[in-house]
Amino acid sequence: MNASTGTFEQLNPAACKTYLIGRAGNEVAIIDPVLEELDRYMSLLQERGLVLTHVLETHTHADHISGAAALKDRTGAVLVMHEKAPARCADTSARVIEGDTVSAAGIELQVLHTPGHTKDSVSYIVAAVPAGPANPGQPGMAFTGDALFLDDGGAGRDDLPGGDPGDHYDSLQKIARLEGSLVVYPAHDYRNRQPSSLRQQLVTNPHLKPRTRDEFIDYITELKLGPADWMKDVLAANYACSIDPKAAWIPADGSACEVKGTLDLGVNDQRVDAITPRQLKMRLEAASTPVLVDVREGFELDGQLGKLDNVIHVPITRLAKELSALEQYKDRDVVVLCKIGGRSYTGAQILQQAGFSRVSFLEGGMIGWRNAYGNKNG
Ligand SMILES: [Fe+2]
Repeated sequence: MNASTGTFEQLNPAACKTYLIGRAGNEVAIIDPVLEELDRYMSLLQERGLVLTHVLETHTHADHISGAAALKDRTGAVLVMHEKAPARCADTSARVIEGDTVSAAGIELQVLHTPGHTKDSVSYIVAAVPAGPANPGQPGMAFTGDALFLDDGGAGRDDLPGGDPGDHYDSLQKIARLEGSLVVYPAHDYRNRQPSSLRQQLVTNPHLKPRTRDEFIDYITELKLGPADWMKDVLAANYACSIDPKAAWIPADGSACEVKGTLDLGVNDQRVDAITPRQLKMRLEAASTPVLVDVREGFELDGQLGKLDNVIHVPITRLAKELSALEQYKDRDVVVLCKIGGRSYTGAQILQQAGFSRVSFLEGGMIGWRNAYGNKNG
């Protein structure tokens, strides 16, 4: 705490990030509180003699029950959410839209509508405090929710209800145009990454890599791993403004909102072999052909890219659960296929981890295959 820059700290020990901010005497606001930490928040406010004036949500969360409704109940704070947020406990007068400014605890937070992860996602932007003779100043802050995480964490997934990768692309373009010195404070971090500037994120965050909108949608589609059923119960609890921590079952230590961490099987850093379309063609023409496992969704196999002959179809979302169906191929050459090589890379990791000894993935996926060989199977 500093007399000029006020209060600013992250309150949670785990992956969900909650921020306490304030620059007006003992007034503070909380961004993205978590219900299971409620008692700690209340003790902290009491011990420090702080008055909670506002609770701001960046979006409706699907991975934890929000503490916003309970904090509002306990303290009378104003609950700020986007106008599209389904939760009825958000104050009618505090429903925000793009371009609004929220004045809370002596801080002006500019609202940016940044949908994609959810329809009601917003980022809150706080301008820098210039350094002066009596204060060290403070860089500007971007509370990006799940619209932008840090570094290789990318951003929140777009495959939950209300998610839309195209919207997410537009939101990221909007964020990328902000002042580069803003420090990014996301709603999650699963691997102890430290907040850094937006300028830094433009270099290190794969979601901000220059792409066209269509390329971005392809990139997200490749990362998509399907909603976890338990998240629907969490969403329902948050729609209902639940103040019961047991309103939904939540798996321990899940990295649910992170795209890459969603499939947390300890396979994320494992390397697998790639095979080019040309190499695959040669192997399909050899005496002993590899087993082909296509991990795309069913509709994709029926679509324009079609499928190769004799593929075994297991969508990536089911692969880990349906390994027994592939057990007989454990010692065969197995090639995993998808659209451009993202899901198949993960699929090959899953098989390798399960003891399949000769696994590879098709580099460039079915797009690469069609570019090389058109609609012939080879
Ligand atoms: Fe989220």
